[in-house]
Amino acid sequence: MTRPRVRPATSRTASIAAITATTDTPRRRTTRSATPRTTGQPPRRTTATDQRRPRHTPPYTPSVPTTPPIKAARGVRDILPAERAAFAVVEHAAREQARGYGYQDVELPIIEPVELIERGVGGDTDVARKELYRLEPHGDPGDPPREIRSRPPRFRGDPGDGDRDSASRLVLRPEATASMVRAYFQGGLNQGPQPVRLSTIGPFFRHDKPQHLRYRQFVQFDVEVIGDDSPAYDAEVIELTWGWLERMGIRHVSLELNSIGDENCRPQYLRALQDYYRPLKDQLDPDCRRRVEENPLRLFDCKEPQCQPLMAAAPRITDHLCGPCAAAFEEVKSLLGAAGLEYRLNPRLVRGLDYYTRTVFEYQHEALGGAQNSLGGGGRYDGLAAALGYPGTPGVGFAGGVDRVAYMLQHEAGTITPPAVAEVLVLPVGDGLDRAASQVGRLVRAVRSTAVDYSSRSLRAKMRAADRTGARWAVIMNADEAERRIVVLHDMVSGDDRHVAWERLAEAVSPSPSAGEGQGGGE
Ligand code: HAM
Repeated sequence: MTRPRVRPATSRTASIAAITATTDTPRRRTTRSATPRTTGQPPRRTTATDQRRPRHTPPYTPSVPTTPPIKAARGVRDILPAERAAFAVVEHAAREQARGYGYQDVELPIIEPVELIERGVGGDTDVARKELYRLEPHGDPGDPPREIRSRPPRFRGDPGDGDRDSASRLVLRPEATASMVRAYFQGGLNQGPQPVRLSTIGPFFRHDKPQHLRYRQFVQFDVEVIGDDSPAYDAEVIELTWGWLERMGIRHVSLELNSIGDENCRPQYLRALQDYYRPLKDQLDPDCRRRVEENPLRLFDCKEPQCQPLMAAAPRITDHLCGPCAAAFEEVKSLLGAAGLEYRLNPRLVRGLDYYTRTVFEYQHEALGGAQNSLGGGGRYDGLAAALGYPGTPGVGFAGGVDRVAYMLQHEAGTITPPAVAEVLVLPVGDGLDRAASQVGRLVRAVRSTAVDYSSRSLRAKMRAADRTGARWAVIMNADEAERRIVVLHDMVSGDDRHVAWERLAEAVSPSPSAGEGQGGGE
């Protein structure tokens, strides 16, 4: 990755003035008369652009739009170079961090069967009930008939591979964990050494109300450890992801920690929760009234102000943990303490997805208010594999919101300068130089990223554009020097110019082994 660079704008600007004033490349203009053109169109007034353009190229005539401009869909956005630079830093840190802990990178499909998500995250969660992007069923005429495609299930709950109905009901993935578990079994990773450590970065989709830092398409960095139930992996995932935020210098983050028990102790806790809430039902919003009977743990996902005081006084799950869950939680806390990580116990943290058992955790940032304060979170999901129809297998993982972390990076570390469009810009001045300029571009590109400015703008305009892109060198060409196969190499930082032969150009701009910048090779 090209390192972001900080450069005083003044020296570059001054150098433009110098080069355009002193260059020995006088501009040649072709004078063209306004003769009628062969296209049959009426004659147009000759402009300066026409005069600079070679005769064989017809001038571009912008057409007038007849419809309103098409914009991106609501809640989705373009990540343009300025922000992409921050994304690149966040993703690079994520990959380095995952690699440092022995996680292997995987790519998973963006579309998944709806059942994977509904049975994975839980049909009663907001993610499955309200936020799924469901794709229209789409029969594929090329598919062989069902009898040929079907294979019988291999174990109880295995859907086989011929279930046309579920295969045609697809969704855009809202999260990665259910897919990771599916891929782990489908790809036979369960057959090798355990546990398996996997990571991925990619886009996810949730049809939520778009708000600041809550998008309908967003990027997550996801890590999962599948195949071992030791609390040491819970602590490892937390340490890895804490380190991810730390290595980017993201501050003011608090780590919230809780245990939500397992299938042994949670039913008894849920009964206690129902006993508490039932007499209070008329004070709850309609969604929560339903949750009391259908999925009481989801009461803690509620953001409605009227439900908050009741939630604060509700029974705590940590007072109802069974012996093994309590012991596992103690172990996680002790390992985090040994790693020097500070955390805040939050008995109301349940993390909005049904698959969690025991440890859950979340990183919250004090500057991100309200519902968007989570930079990432995760937990253990020892029942997820069985819920998806695979043999019971423990797992623990995390997903971080790359959009949110990139936003924090920009706001805490200041603007991150995107890498230059190209390190070298070739600037031909005058007509008929396209072929020579592309050849010079090809020579330099062997050692540096290089772009050629084929436009018919003046040298001053080209130099100004080069300065704004952050290029390191400008290679200025005119027709006379092109004949002699030389160029003017302009250092955009120091403002120095020198003539360099085409053959020596790559050497002149090539990175020197010590300083990382090329200096030698003048004519
Ligand atoms: P999650 O809490 O739903 O967990 O999402 C993780 C992170 O993704 C959030 O903390 C947030 O930073 C980001 N995020 C979620 N929704 C949006 C959105 N609409 N716009 C922007 N960012 C968003 C999971 O997805 C679990 N799969 C995590 C996990 C992995 N648990 C175990 N393994």
